Amino acid sequence: MGNSVMLGSTILFIFFYIFNLESLEAQVAPAIYVFGDSLVDVGNNNYLLLSIEKAILPHYGIDFPTKKPNGRFSNGKNAADLIAEKLGVPTSPPYLSLISKVKNNRNVSFLDGVSFASGGAGIFDGKNDLQSIPFTKQVDYYSQVHEQMTQQVGAPTLQKHLSKSIFAVVIGSNDLFGYFNSKDLQNKSTPQQYADSMATSLKVQLQRVYNYGARKFVIAGIGSIGCCPTFRLKNKTECALEANLMSIRYNDGLKSMLKGWQLENNDISYTYFDTYVALQDMIQYPTSYGFVEVKAACCGLGKLNAEVPCLPISNICSNRQDHVFWDPFHPTEAAARIFVDRIFNGSPKYSSPINMRQLLAV
Ligand SMILES: *[C@@H]1O[C@H](CO)[C@@H](O)[C@H](O)[C@H]1NC(C)=O
Ligand SMILES: *[C@@H]1O[C@H](CO)[C@@H](O)[C@H](O)[C@H]1NC(C)=O
Repeated sequence: MGNSVMLGSTILFIFFYIFNLESLEAQVAPAIYVFGDSLVDVGNNNYLLLSIEKAILPHYGIDFPTKKPNGRFSNGKNAADLIAEKLGVPTSPPYLSLISKVKNNRNVSFLDGVSFASGGAGIFDGKNDLQSIPFTKQVDYYSQVHEQMTQQVGAPTLQKHLSKSIFAVVIGSNDLFGYFNSKDLQNKSTPQQYADSMATSLKVQLQRVYNYGARKFVIAGIGSIGCCPTFRLKNKTECALEANLMSIRYNDGLKSMLKGWQLENNDISYTYFDTYVALQDMIQYPTSYGFVEVKAACCGLGKLNAEVPCLPISNICSNRQDHVFWDPFHPTEAAARIFVDRIFNGSPKYSSPINMRQLLAV
């Protein structure tokens, strides 16, 4: 009697074990395609000969596995690496690194994922695309990649592959920095008009990515940029209110744009990540995340280490784990890790309408 119960539960256990393994397998995306700015750039800007927006000097990369500057605007890994880590796949390589291999007649496949992200990029094109790859151009590159993959495996196979892949989009902060740095832009549009036009422009580009096969999106809102060291400097170390309000305006516009966009294309699934709420949590309750310093940058010079950027001559904090900000604009790996945990597993307060774990299972 006892034995048959044991046997029964063992069989049940094995059954569930196999079942679980299968459902886990079904949840792995075949590839990640990344679009965006310095928060997720893994080295594209290194290939822009004339760009000065490169993280190639010490102390960038000090906590990266190689301990060397590598183009990431972080002390270590950034959100793109950490999302790949969650899926147990390698970080999608920079598009420009793959293109240089193609030019040398080396075999390259884009089927394992590519990153188009570029430090300094915005939703709007900006004046100088020698400095970075604007979002529109990132999507142009993706359309070329799509063409190449179609030739490689054929349209039906490719469509199946892309519909299971993750398309991560982290963009918009630079457009807000641009607005606050330009009297001309402020004169031309009210904050509300500007934020709305950002969301509208983003939608046009997202639709292009959709038209080239993307179905699963992870789209980040903008953090409370008024609390980054650069903006705090302007308000006696307190967060700049206008900049934060602008982030909220844009995020509200983005959220409603995404809802409408999904109604127009009902086979889209997406995770919207509320970077603002997640960052404010860290700033307001630092100790629950293991942070000690939420205002000053770890690497920089002057007040809040924000008067001079992170350069070889700059100060560097000894414990990067307890700082939210690595340099005057960018989070530490420690902060990025918390963001990515929330993207993956977060409640609807952070990740809505579904988190990335649920997105993978769709
Ligand atoms: C703002 O725009 C007006 C006209 O539209 C112009 O006269 C004025 O010089 C502009 N101001 C700035 C700071 O650009
Ligand atoms: C400066 O910070 C204080 C305190 O948070 C805030 O009330 C005020 O609006 C801020 N000023 C500006 C110009 O952002």
